[in-house]
Amino acid sequence: MPHLEVRNLSASYGDLKVLHGVDLSFDKGEVVALIGPSGSGKSTILRVLVGLTPCIGGDVVLDGQPIQYGSAASVRAARDKMAIVFQQYNLFQNMDVMRNVTIAPVKIKGRPRAEAEADAARILARVGLADKSHAYPDELSGGQQQRVAIARALALKPEILLLDEVTSALDPELVNEVLDTIRVLAKDGMTMLIVSHEMAFVREVASKVVMMDKGKVVEIGTPADIFDRPRSERAREFVGKILRH
Ligand SMILES: Nc1ncnc2c1ncn2[C@@H]1O[C@H](COP(=O)(O)OP(=O)(O)OP(=O)(O)O)[C@@H](O)[C@H]1O
Ligand SMILES: [Mg+2]
Repeated sequence: MPHLEVRNLSASYGDLKVLHGVDLSFDKGEVVALIGPSGSGKSTILRVLVGLTPCIGGDVVLDGQPIQYGSAASVRAARDKMAIVFQQYNLFQNMDVMRNVTIAPVKIKGRPRAEAEADAARILARVGLADKSHAYPDELSGGQQQRVAIARALALKPEILLLDEVTSALDPELVNEVLDTIRVLAKDGMTMLIVSHEMAFVREVASKVVMMDKGKVVEIGTPADIFDRPRSERAREFVGKILRH
């Protein structure tokens, strides 16, 4: 049984249908990369998974259990297992790093503060920010802030981490420090679904690449399948274009 299975998923924003029967699945420990042109529906898939955008058809099955998006309890249970990090990291500016990372575990999950803080200290060390726990967001670089956002997601102990272009808003010299953090997580066996335009990185860390176009999956394969021997014309064209840049 796959860890997560998306079956025939459709979604729309008002009258605009943006996902047309998406199928994909992956196992625990996989790093799955979603690639494809702007507007192809990559972010929408992540948003549907965590219940931020409604699906109008199809199923998302987590560990064999279909998520009931009409049920608050089922969505809550799904969000316990999947945490999402966006391009815009949206930290609380009036709280230091430790507070940013512990606020949800303490206030939402009701965990004792001391325990949450011990956990956060471990997570901050893992993302290379052990010495920044008392810094405020405006004292950090964009790359550091994005790593705090990743730490905040990890503090929820998700089974699957969803990362939507987490390096896109960063200055080029800060991109690598965030990619390094994701590399560490991948090496530790964290299951991740990543939207990224960093193709060299995708090729390096992904176990599976899902190429999207116009709300559909065009091709799924290993990085070598997709980048070196794409089968479809659309994938060949896209890969040819991005690899020339
Ligand atoms: N909040 C929204 N309201 C209306 N339409 C939206 C909204 N968000 C996205 N869309 C539309 O849905 C389609 C898919 O968008 P989505 O953001 O999923 O694409 P994407 O693959 O993530 O693109 P990008 O690479 O630019 O981030 C696009 O046509 C987009 O214009
Ligand atoms: Mg997007």
